[in-house]
Amino acid sequence: MSFIHKKLIVANWKMNKTISEAKEFCQALLPQIEGYNEVDVAICPPFTSLETVKNLLSDSPVALGAQDLFWKEKGAFTGEVSPIMLVDVGCKYVIVGHSERRHILGETDLIVNRKLKAALEAGLTPILCVGETLQERKNNLAKEVIKDQLLANLKDIELKAADIVIAYEPVWAIGTGVNASSEDAQEMCLYIRTKLKELYGEEVANNTRILYGGSVKEDNLADFLNEKDVDGALVGGASLDPQSFAELIRIGANGK
Ligand code: PGA
Repeated sequence: MSFIHKKLIVANWKMNKTISEAKEFCQALLPQIEGYNEVDVAICPPFTSLETVKNLLSDSPVALGAQDLFWKEKGAFTGEVSPIMLVDVGCKYVIVGHSERRHILGETDLIVNRKLKAALEAGLTPILCVGETLQERKNNLAKEVIKDQLLANLKDIELKAADIVIAYEPVWAIGTGVNASSEDAQEMCLYIRTKLKELYGEEVANNTRILYGGSVKEDNLADFLNEKDVDGALVGGASLDPQSFAELIRIGANGK
């Protein structure tokens, strides 16, 4: 049983970039990341740019991910996008339960649980986001919150090794410029791994990538990746610029 040594760097563009901006990004990124094979990379653009990004990155090792999905295959669900549509457009990953969806759009643990099941069923790799608010951290409840989210979100889900990616994203660090310390990130990622071990055993725990997310940038990524239980990063703001995302990929390729 080995810990994962290849890092995963995921770009979460959120609600940014038109199709032409996505195109410009990919064209600028590709020449800068040639030869960085010792890292896995994914880009999660908005739904409207998925096909464009897929086509432009098809000859590169960069994988495609979506930012959300619905839990039914098809039907009368206005505005929703199904797991099979994401597979059809070429997605490997899908972000599930991002804190912006939980807090701005009212996504509940039950909804996150349904989405995880649907993603796994369709053969997608969900990137499950969990994290505490500032108030919860101040009240010393961070681990309790993460435990509750994991138990509720993974309810009745059987996992095998590497079926899922988990991102520890403290809500107070997202988009604020205030990142967690690498020690805090390590403590929480280790806690998540310990919970996975209790739920699914050692093999799943040791082979599940656990990412840190929240104000990751060029000058702090290496510190996070140097921590034993941080297997990569989920990056918002710093993934929007091709130069800075290329730099994050380079740091990821240099590994622990
Ligand atoms: P940020 O976003 O890097 O802009 O803080 C991270 C995320 O929300 O995944």
